[in-house]
Amino acid sequence: MKVMVVGGGGREHAIVKSLKKNAGITELYCLPGNGGIAADAVCVPIGAKDTDGIVRFAVENGIDYAVVAPDDPLVLGTVDRLNAEGIPCFGPTAAAARIEGSKIFAKQLMKKYGIPTAEFRVFTDPGDALEYVATCPLPTVIKADGLALGKGVIIAKTRGEAETAVREMMISGRFGDSGRQILIEQCLTGPEVSVLAFTDGVTVCPMISSMDHKRAHDGNEGPNTGGMGTVAPNPYYTDSVADECMKTIFLPTVRAMAAEGCPFKGCLYFGLMLTTDGPKVIEYNCRFGDPETQVVLPLLENDLLTIMLAVTDGTLDANRPVFSDKHACCVIEASDGYPGKYASGFPVKSEPYPGTEIFYAGVKLTDSGELVTSGGRVLGITAVADSLAEAVKTAYAATGKTGFENAYYRKDIGAEALKAVR
Ligand code: AMP
Ligand code: GLY
Repeated sequence: MKVMVVGGGGREHAIVKSLKKNAGITELYCLPGNGGIAADAVCVPIGAKDTDGIVRFAVENGIDYAVVAPDDPLVLGTVDRLNAEGIPCFGPTAAAARIEGSKIFAKQLMKKYGIPTAEFRVFTDPGDALEYVATCPLPTVIKADGLALGKGVIIAKTRGEAETAVREMMISGRFGDSGRQILIEQCLTGPEVSVLAFTDGVTVCPMISSMDHKRAHDGNEGPNTGGMGTVAPNPYYTDSVADECMKTIFLPTVRAMAAEGCPFKGCLYFGLMLTTDGPKVIEYNCRFGDPETQVVLPLLENDLLTIMLAVTDGTLDANRPVFSDKHACCVIEASDGYPGKYASGFPVKSEPYPGTEIFYAGVKLTDSGELVTSGGRVLGITAVADSLAEAVKTAYAATGKTGFENAYYRKDIGAEALKAVR
């Protein structure tokens, strides 16, 4: 079977490494992949947003199955285009990907179907939004409607901050069209949990839960990033919370999407907050999380391709994922300065460290075959162990063996989770 994965970060590396365990895959491609993924799949320099290029490559090379991993190509309708050529895919259609591509679509869906989430108002006129933030309760949460690289959410503690956020999004066009319409939400509090779930549009199988660390610096300080590290499972996500989420959030969401005529097939990501009022949805993503995938897939015990094919053909109920009862911790090594400006081109040295795996993101191979840094988040080191404490200790021990000159990483990945289990 010829399989291609669209995307080129740490998440895609984790997907590629998991897929590779299936001996039925004769050719495995990654578009565009990166210099580290090149050790595990044939990387083809076609960008994830180059829909025409992706479709042409798939047709010309007789691809049997495609996994479309990042949000942009999903929202752009890459799955619809590949399906039209007769190529089955893992990932939602553009209509279903709106659950991430438009936060307003997602909020209206939750409201219509009674799925618990923060109270909200939608604004299309900056004057109305400014009038609202002049008197609304604080802190308040201001969100751009469309995709904004995880940066379209502002938690405003003061009226001044709220006003600035509204002006930047709606008047200055900081996020382009993504911010022309905005949401203003009630600010919720409580531990956050990420739950990725396989769904074939009817059956929903949550994967092991995880905890992301979105802020750049220790103690959850500094700017928001794509994610600086993860642990799985998330200790706040107890069995009773999981049951409640299945009843009030997961199944209702999958049924709502089907009822709206856009059944969701693929990986649906639930960003949850466990409030004193019960679990609520903070956001949906239409894809695997990054770096959640780097702790979730290493704990998957059965075959990823079999589950993905079952998602595509609607037989997930008979092909459910099974997870190990171990723990995983992923520490992201980023270029110093990320998510702001940073320098690139530093050689990456890496020595195998027992109990760990490396997932590459911002790296490339030079003409002489040397692996050098080329992005913000450069690599993730994932350790799997019998306890969370051991997984955290092992991942950090491995940072001494793998890195590059201007590497920056948080020193407290897993610290909050460890406090919660004690
Ligand atoms: P999002 O891009 O929607 O996941 O938002 C990014 C982060 O902002 C989330 O991980 C939360 O930490 C925070 N956030 C988003 N919405 C809310 C809310 N309604 N109340 C409190 N925090 C929020
Ligand atoms: N780690 C958060 C995300 O993938 O959106």
